[in-house]
Amino acid sequence: MSRELMQQNILKAQAEIDAKKDIVKNGKMRQHYHFMAQTGWINDPNGLIYYKGKYHFFFQYNPYYGFWDYMHWGHAVSDDMLHWEYLPLALAPSETYDNHLRGGCFSGSAIEHDGKLFLMFTGTTNNGEGFEQTQCVAYSEDGIHFEKYEGNPVLTAPEGVPTDFFRDPKVWKHEDTYYMVCGASKNHKAQALLYRSKDMLHWEFFNVLAESRGEWGYMWECPDFYPLGDKYVLMFSPMGAGERTVVYLVGDFDYQTGKFDYHVTGEIDWGFDYYAPQSFEAPDGRRIIVGWANAWDWMPFWKDWGPTYREGWCGFYNIPREVRLMEDSTLQFVPIKEIETIRKSGWQQEQLLVSDEKQIVEAGNGISFEWKFKIDLEKTDAKQLKIVLRSGEGKQAVCILDFVESKMFVDRNDSDGWSKGVSESILYLQNKKELDIHILSDQSLLEIFSDQYSNNHSMNIYAGYGQNQTCIYACGGKAVLKDMEAYELMECYR
Ligand code: FRU
Repeated sequence: MSRELMQQNILKAQAEIDAKKDIVKNGKMRQHYHFMAQTGWINDPNGLIYYKGKYHFFFQYNPYYGFWDYMHWGHAVSDDMLHWEYLPLALAPSETYDNHLRGGCFSGSAIEHDGKLFLMFTGTTNNGEGFEQTQCVAYSEDGIHFEKYEGNPVLTAPEGVPTDFFRDPKVWKHEDTYYMVCGASKNHKAQALLYRSKDMLHWEFFNVLAESRGEWGYMWECPDFYPLGDKYVLMFSPMGAGERTVVYLVGDFDYQTGKFDYHVTGEIDWGFDYYAPQSFEAPDGRRIIVGWANAWDWMPFWKDWGPTYREGWCGFYNIPREVRLMEDSTLQFVPIKEIETIRKSGWQQEQLLVSDEKQIVEAGNGISFEWKFKIDLEKTDAKQLKIVLRSGEGKQAVCILDFVESKMFVDRNDSDGWSKGVSESILYLQNKKELDIHILSDQSLLEIFSDQYSNNHSMNIYAGYGQNQTCIYACGGKAVLKDMEAYELMECYR
């Protein structure tokens, strides 16, 4: 019976998508190569996995309209993480443990077990006792049609953890045991709880993997834990930690004791639109993360989810990024190399001298493009370099590299008449000969990577087609740029 109910709810949602997708497709703010859904609202990436020869992305999804509500799991597959085929929804609310109208099937992960594709997700209901979150399981023989486990939920909140702060299970396997990290809160401090299981159905508490002492907020959403080189990485999205919204910790992990000793901390992205990244391993061994390019209402810089709801949709993902471990155990987040396959026309230039006079740069069509260069710091005496993006119709977004203050800013206050705010990070320039910049621009997203992909800013802007100029100029001196290249990036959705 309950199996039928989920099926009915999936078919209902699917009919809604089919009725609207051809209209939504023409929305002016739709992306050209970043992942999005056919209609409605999306947030966190869920269940990312390479399975039976394809990349599978599941996603937090309300197919009915462009606001968060009543969470389903959407599903799409791809050969390159750029071109997508949408599959039927994987999960819809249907049970007493996941059918709260302002709840549903919350975030989780995927793993292959027993010849089947298993999903582990958070069921959210109110069952008369407040907002209750429990961990649940679903599985599929064909990787497309899922069935919820009859014994759900498989895990409830431990003592001391409020039932509305226990969510987002991320599962992995080590030797013959499954492990799972889950976001929680205890005494108003965030925790990542570690569990283990032999069969994906019976789970025992193992350890507190890491916890906030106040510096990283009161709740960690979407924690993820994975090996990288000879280290382990814990990533999480803290609530209540100001502008720190995607933190990573690097350290050593011991499977005997369940202890994680971390000695390096960092921020994956300093922009306002990068949240809840999830990782998975590509078939060639790359560790890839995908984040949701938006922000929640409880964040300090939040204004609104943006104007795309008027087009019947909201939400897209940042470009998938490969995580690399540096010698000092800090991390790099490099856009996937597959991006090179959608480069259209382009050019390279060895050197460019930049003064206080604005120079126009031919960066593709000025909207969907990639632009890379290095700043020769030894030959540069400017105080600042200003990179002007999506300029036109009296509007622009500006990335400022301030060599005196040693800071990087992305200012979107004049970018579209709607977006606001200036993101900010520290630039480590001491003893450096050059600073590398890599920009990815799409219809409503700018991603700017600097300093070997360790210092990154993702910012949404909702600029029109007329905002298609790219310029650069220096303040208080000259800047020497080298190894420049720029390309238009192809449309992946038509
Ligand atoms: C993070 C999050 C998760 C939750 C999901 C609900 O963005 O709040 O903690 O599972 O979104 O859609």
